[in-house]
Amino acid sequence: MKVLVLGGGGREHALARALSRDPGVSELHVASGNPGTAALAHNHDVPPADPEAVVGLARPLAVDLVVVGPEAPLVAGVGDALRAAGVPCFGPDAAAARIEGSKAFAKDVMTAAGVPTAAARVCVTAAEVDAALAEFGPPYVVKEDGLAAGKGVVVTEDLAAARAHAAGSERVVIEEFLDGPEVSVFALSDGRAVVPLSPAQDFKRAYDGGAGPNTGGMGAYTPLPWAPPGLVDEVTATVVRPTVEELARRGTPYVGVLYAGLALTSRGVRVVEFNARFGDPEAQVVLDRLETPLGGLLLAAARGRLGDVPPPVGRPGAAVTVVMAAENYPDTPVTGDAIEGIEAAESVPGAYVLQAGTRIDGGRLVTSGGRVLNVVGTGADLEAARAAAYAAVARIRLRGAHHRSDIAALAASAEVASE
Ligand code: AMP
Ligand code: GLY
Repeated sequence: MKVLVLGGGGREHALARALSRDPGVSELHVASGNPGTAALAHNHDVPPADPEAVVGLARPLAVDLVVVGPEAPLVAGVGDALRAAGVPCFGPDAAAARIEGSKAFAKDVMTAAGVPTAAARVCVTAAEVDAALAEFGPPYVVKEDGLAAGKGVVVTEDLAAARAHAAGSERVVIEEFLDGPEVSVFALSDGRAVVPLSPAQDFKRAYDGGAGPNTGGMGAYTPLPWAPPGLVDEVTATVVRPTVEELARRGTPYVGVLYAGLALTSRGVRVVEFNARFGDPEAQVVLDRLETPLGGLLLAAARGRLGDVPPPVGRPGAAVTVVMAAENYPDTPVTGDAIEGIEAAESVPGAYVLQAGTRIDGGRLVTSGGRVLNVVGTGADLEAARAAAYAAVARIRLRGAHHRSDIAALAASAEVASE
């Protein structure tokens, strides 16, 4: 089968890597890709969020499947355009992708489907904002109602800061604060059937110990040895299935991966957010642990035949990924710095490097975005995987780079990690 992957970050490098290991995948294309995907696939200089341009690429290549990595193409209607052109697409239509694109829509679907989530108020005026902040009290949770790549959320004890964040957007969602560790669960859906994968944990804050601003994610690991047994089954039954059924009932069936960002609170599992795609960097570890060939699974979902394929099988062991970020990330990152040492990093047993914000400049690999590399370590358990990841990180030379040193640290010592 011929597959086209859309996007060009660490998640897409991980998708390309997993697809290139699938014996059923004969040809692999990426638009636009990055220097990492170029080593595994044909990169095409086509904008992934332009529906016409993507159809114009997929058709002549005669691809059997398009796999959409990031949210922007989904919200822009790339899934709709591909399906209209008869090209199977793993990734929902724009209407169903609103589960990620609009926090208010997601809340509405959850309410209708009886899915447990934080109580929330959608606010437009300053008076509504003040009333909602007073109702829920601190810590205040204020979310922009739109795509913000995980960065449109402010969680703060400071009322003035909460108000200021709300004042910056036309429409915000203000929520009750959820305590407890966060877990990301990914479920493949063909519109009806759902198939969960191994859960992962993401580290959203920029610095060790959960300090600093929210980011797109600074690291991740799987499996979660501390998670309650039966967590994935519970989430499938109480969150994923009702949500997929509700979207089908509304006439907008969900085809793709539904990402449930969950808080395991003292009062039970609550949805923090939905995303319409694989999490980044969680996908990097979840896909590493998947034994079942990825292409066949995603094609079955895209064709509405997920119920006909055997449930996916995982590989034993663990995977940890550490994000190496550019200077000043998550604020405007410094770009153009040389990256060296990838080969040395990959000579660490069990380790490899996925590229995210990189490009080639005059024959050299340089930084081009905030999250530059995802260094992945694998091993028999989290401790071994973590050791491999950090040994590899130590071999990368990148001026001004920063990374967290505590990814999977608590989990490796069998404690619950909350950040
Ligand atoms: P979101 O974009 O909705 O995923 O939010 C980004 C991050 O903000 C989440 O991963 C949480 O760490 C935090 N967050 C969002 N909503 C809440 C909430 N209701 N209570 C506590 N933390 C939250
Ligand atoms: N890692 C969080 C996200 O992909 O939104």
